Amino acid sequence: MASEQDDFGPPRDEREVAAVIDILMHSYAMTPEDCAGWKQRQDLGNLRLLREQGQVAATLGLLRMGQWYGGRSVPVIGVGGVGVHPVFRGRGTATRLMTNLLREVRAEGAPLSILYPATQPLYRRAGYELAGGRYEIRVPMGALDLGERGLRLRAIEDSDEAAIAACYTRLARHREGWLDRGAFSWNRVRNPRTEKVHGFLVEGDAGVEGYVYLARRPLKDLKFELALTDVMATTPVAARRLLRFLGDHHSLGTEAVWYGGPDEPLLLLLREQDYSVRLYMHWMARVLDVAAALEARGWPHGGRGVLHLEVEDDLFPENQGRYVLEVADGTARVTRGGEGRLRLHVRQLATLYTGFASAQSLRAMGLVQGDDATLEVAQRLFHGPAPSMRDMF
Ligand SMILES: CC(C)(COP(=O)(O)OP(=O)(O)OC[C@H]1O[C@@H](n2cnc3c(N)ncnc32)[C@H](O)[C@@H]1OP(=O)(O)O)[C@@H](O)C(=O)NCCC(=O)NCCS
Repeated sequence: MASEQDDFGPPRDEREVAAVIDILMHSYAMTPEDCAGWKQRQDLGNLRLLREQGQVAATLGLLRMGQWYGGRSVPVIGVGGVGVHPVFRGRGTATRLMTNLLREVRAEGAPLSILYPATQPLYRRAGYELAGGRYEIRVPMGALDLGERGLRLRAIEDSDEAAIAACYTRLARHREGWLDRGAFSWNRVRNPRTEKVHGFLVEGDAGVEGYVYLARRPLKDLKFELALTDVMATTPVAARRLLRFLGDHHSLGTEAVWYGGPDEPLLLLLREQDYSVRLYMHWMARVLDVAAALEARGWPHGGRGVLHLEVEDDLFPENQGRYVLEVADGTARVTRGGEGRLRLHVRQLATLYTGFASAQSLRAMGLVQGDDATLEVAQRLFHGPAPSMRDMF
């Protein structure tokens, strides 16, 4: 756990940035070239270091962005690039690094944090729990021999970026857990580390109706797979135009591959199930501020209910205790007190909050306690489509 004496904060000088790079090389097998690229892209002010015995022992990068829940963008702190120098491992260094970060961002008012875990026990100790999935979607080119060429399709230019972002948001805001992207995430779509990406959009009378960013990933004998860093269609004609466009790569293209949820809309238009949707990784979430997180998200319109919660949180005593959650007309009001009828750790609140598992499933696994009537209210309020994410960070 974090203590008052921990020496934690952003890098102080170039020597500490070099120490971070050294940790990343040990942690992620990064080459010197990878590190040079990383240093160029990284906002050094978003790095956090934990020093032990005067040396940089551990590092992480934080990312301020939003995540859509119930149609509203909840501010989230994404955490990535967690690494501990090998000589400092196995004695709680990463745990202290994480708890220091969580204290800092909670004090700033962040309601929620998310990350992709390479290991779960570390993040569970810090209060994170499973909250959604990122899936790899693979479609053979033969399955894309459909659609039409009705709408105009053209290369994306820099001046299209705002219209593209608006097109993304029209759909992403209805996908539970999808990112309300900032500059970092858009940069990963348009300029990923190792591939050259080309963007194309489809236009109708009302402007941009869909778009795709793709790279051609070479295979043997001139063949390639199409790696889509993003693809969105907000109208049926745009969806059919994009499918046709992808299919037009069939002579040398083998498959199109992209990431998203298990409920990828474009798959609804395919003839057969000759595609695959495979779990890439479950991501985890941490509710930093119980009341703020519950009030920040959107709720199903027409859904009404009152839920009495009792939350346990060993890191933030401020979160501990009873709450009454009242949901009506798409918003929530949270007050302290009540009867504490649904009893759960803050970790399970994250799982429930995103809709990753139902209150009944959690109770069946012994992870929450409550009577049937209480669980039914929780189920009604939190139930929704499976939370997912396209972006990696
Ligand atoms: C994963 C990684 C960050 C863990 O760093 P670490 O400092 O060894 O982590 P911790 O010491 O906090 O926890 C590791 C183990 O030490 C144990 N430990 C030993 N002494 C401890 C103490 N005083 N306090 C807490 N844990 C302690 C813990 O039980 C823990 O075991 P568990 O995770 O199996 O439950 C580190 O191995 C690393 O940098 N790996 C490569 C990069 C990577 O995978 N990063 C994560 C990306 S999401």
